[in-house]
Amino acid sequence: MRRIVVGLAAALVVQVVAGQEDISLEDYAALMESNREALGAVEAAVEAAAYQDARRSVAILRRNFQGSLPRFWSSRERADAVEIVRDGVDRLARLEEMMSRTWDVPEMPVRQATEEFRGAVCDACHNIYREGDGESGFRFREGVFALETVPVHAREWSQYLAFDDRFSINFPGEPTIHEATYVTGYGITLPARVYTAEDDFGTYSAMAVDWNGANELHEKANEACQAATGDLRGGDNPGICANHVEFDIRGATLHAAFGFLQRGSEVTFFGPATEGRIGGIRIQLLNEDGSRSFASIFWHENYLYMTEANTPPGMPPPVLFSNGMNFLDEYGIRIAYDAPYSPTFPVPSRRR
Ligand code: HEC
Repeated sequence: MRRIVVGLAAALVVQVVAGQEDISLEDYAALMESNREALGAVEAAVEAAAYQDARRSVAILRRNFQGSLPRFWSSRERADAVEIVRDGVDRLARLEEMMSRTWDVPEMPVRQATEEFRGAVCDACHNIYREGDGESGFRFREGVFALETVPVHAREWSQYLAFDDRFSINFPGEPTIHEATYVTGYGITLPARVYTAEDDFGTYSAMAVDWNGANELHEKANEACQAATGDLRGGDNPGICANHVEFDIRGATLHAAFGFLQRGSEVTFFGPATEGRIGGIRIQLLNEDGSRSFASIFWHENYLYMTEANTPPGMPPPVLFSNGMNFLDEYGIRIAYDAPYSPTFPVPSRRR
């Protein structure tokens, strides 16, 4: 099972991303300051029924509520604090859902949910773990770290927002993040990140390949090709050198799919996938050892995404993971299109 997951990253994993370690108390206070600002902005925007603004600030809160905040409390085995943070994440997701309606956002419920969030999440944790006031400054309640600890229990599934890579997906607990590289069909090497997690039912990973630098790399390859071959691509008879970026992008999901097919497992499904009207490819494999792999591949806005779940023989399919992918805009807000999203190119004008 483990062997297969490593296969997804094609043994390209280089280093663990920095920032996964514990945060300093100063950074913790800065995080809280950001919470104060963001929640204040949500409240003001909700009051003004400016839901698009409110959603941006909710996205900031969602970012703050994953990563170092839950890690800080779970590494201190404060199950009650971890639970408050987790509940906060759920509440923020529901709030975002309510405000994302394109018709008729329910004004009163949104207000109420915002208010309840402050009480049930921010205040709830402060009541247990914070002391001091605005004048003397805030600090951790004395003895917080010496209290008898409450162990943290089994991992629960929750939506993880990978802001830097513009997607979200469900994971059991917090994923581990690795930097990696990915070689495209036309042979350029791009930076990628791999998010992995596991539970008793399987292992789960999502890889995001950043294509923003692809054009520049292809242009360099083109220039090197011209310098080496003297091919200047002039006139009506362009030679062999060219910037292949468009072909590489067009073939990106197919090339990724080929990577799964090449493993030699029995292919039990190969067909279309769609998330938020963004089309992709879904693949299921039956591996030699009886385990199953459930993969999906998407292209969206200069990112190539590959997800994979592996389940041991006889385990149920990983529906929480497989159906949980979403794509985010630059503010961290989930994207939904009105019509099917065409990967990469608009319809060109006709020559005849
Ligand atoms: C899981 C616990 C927990 C949650 C949830 C939490 N806080 Fe805090 N917060 C603390 C603790 C502990 C302190 C005291 C330590 C500190 O100030 O750094 C604190 C301090 C603060 C401070 C003072 C920062 C400073 O030191 O100047 C502000 C402002 C704040 N929190 C705002 C918020 C807001 C707004 C939310 C909700 C969106 C929130 N917090 C959610 C635990 C939490």
